Amino acid sequence: MEAHPHALAPAGSPTLGSLPVQPLLTAEFDADPGSVYRRLRSSYGPVAPVGLLGVPVWLVLDYREVLEVLRNESRWRRDVRHWRARTQGELPPDWPLLAGYEVRQTMFMDDEEHRAARRTHHASLRPFQDARSPEGWELRAAVARYADELIALLAADSGRSGFADLGAQYTRPLLLMVTTKLFGCPVDLGDELVMDLWRMLDGGPESGPATGRALAAFTRLAAHRRARPGDDLTSYLMLADPDLSDEQLGRELFMNAVYLNDITGNMVLNTLLEVLRGNATVRRSLSAGQLGETVNRAALANPPIANMCFRFAARDVRLGGFWIRAGDVVCPSSAAAHQDLLAIGASHLVGSTVSTRAHLGWGAGPHQCPSAARELGQLIVTTAVGRVFDHFAQAELTLPADQLPWRSGPVVRGLRLLPVRYELADDAPVLRPAELSRTPFAHPGEGQTRGLLAALRRLMSGARRNI
Ligand code: HEM
Repeated sequence: MEAHPHALAPAGSPTLGSLPVQPLLTAEFDADPGSVYRRLRSSYGPVAPVGLLGVPVWLVLDYREVLEVLRNESRWRRDVRHWRARTQGELPPDWPLLAGYEVRQTMFMDDEEHRAARRTHHASLRPFQDARSPEGWELRAAVARYADELIALLAADSGRSGFADLGAQYTRPLLLMVTTKLFGCPVDLGDELVMDLWRMLDGGPESGPATGRALAAFTRLAAHRRARPGDDLTSYLMLADPDLSDEQLGRELFMNAVYLNDITGNMVLNTLLEVLRGNATVRRSLSAGQLGETVNRAALANPPIANMCFRFAARDVRLGGFWIRAGDVVCPSSAAAHQDLLAIGASHLVGSTVSTRAHLGWGAGPHQCPSAARELGQLIVTTAVGRVFDHFAQAELTLPADQLPWRSGPVVRGLRLLPVRYELADDAPVLRPAELSRTPFAHPGEGQTRGLLAALRRLMSGARRNI
């Protein structure tokens, strides 16, 4: 990175607005984003101008440059008020990604305001992080129990051997059950919420209304828990910062829900896929019992967030082959950076293998996933993946890996479904109807265990309808 402490871009160097841009989200990107990143890199170098749903953006492609953007917060700001095109009214008012960026929460704060918000997240997550605390113990037990229940439900629905979609029938309901438990929320948040989080991230025409609906749901939850506090994250966030209004708490929960459902779900499904498609190193680490290593390898091959949140240049700065102007928007791509990293690792110039922990799946720098959240995410992913391979004697993909349907949006590349033919192990869990109705899907004492089975089935069929 060239340091030009107080330099101004030289007159005549091309501006983002003056460059012809290729749209990023094309059919080719949908099918094979790696080839698009390679082409952009060979045309422009480590940073390329692209069109994102009609708006020009600098896409940062190389590992070194991505790390610089993630780590250097004095040069690369998160607060959207630094975005020149936004303040000058140059963004289309109905630009689909704008709704998400207008939700002011921790991710879009800088400096002391940001550090204080992170302290609140840490304090509220800490009880769940510690396996010896009652909350931590209970959450760990609940994740494993929910996974077992979903596998048992699958057996009740489709038999001890058969066909299943590990997305709609396992991963998504599992994460919704964990969210329900962790947030202390009523069961009716349901499948539509997950779909609204998808719609927001994918930037389709529905993303504005979907963001509004999800925010309203979490604001209602905040008000509900303020009136009836419990041993849940929502109540602990309020305890950690009593000044949080219901609206701000709703915004923070909304962001956590994105990570807990969509991003954690991608990490579960990507890890399962890498194992099922026969990635040899992933399989080796799994059979050696190193589940954490398996997850790292899968994250390197396919990070759960492909293109991270925008950053905005605080001043003119040279990055890659271009001068980025103050207020320009840059999008650090972890997927492209991993491709670059793996190419460096494979090159004879470096001659060494890349540490799997070098992946950017958790981000880097001041906005990286808070350690308590990361431990929670890791716990959920390793439990979810581990339970599948504990309970399935056999599982194989029913589609060739290159024909699996992906959601390939501006932020995530995630599997829409993960169809498998399976055979359960002899000791896999079985649920009898009487046990199903007792499953603790929500907080005890709130009368929410009624209709669990119906709720889960609705969730699964709803998720299938929406893909
Ligand atoms: C496997 C699961 C997870 C992955 C892969 C993941 C990944 C990430 C990444 C990459 C970032 C940084 C994004 C950026 O810089 O643009 C981030 C930030 C964040 N994550 Fe996680 N996350 C996971 C789970 C969770 C969970 C379960 C929670 C909370 C319940 C959570 C809460 C947060 C918060 C609050 C931030 C914002 C931090 C900030 O801006 O300072 N994450 N996460």
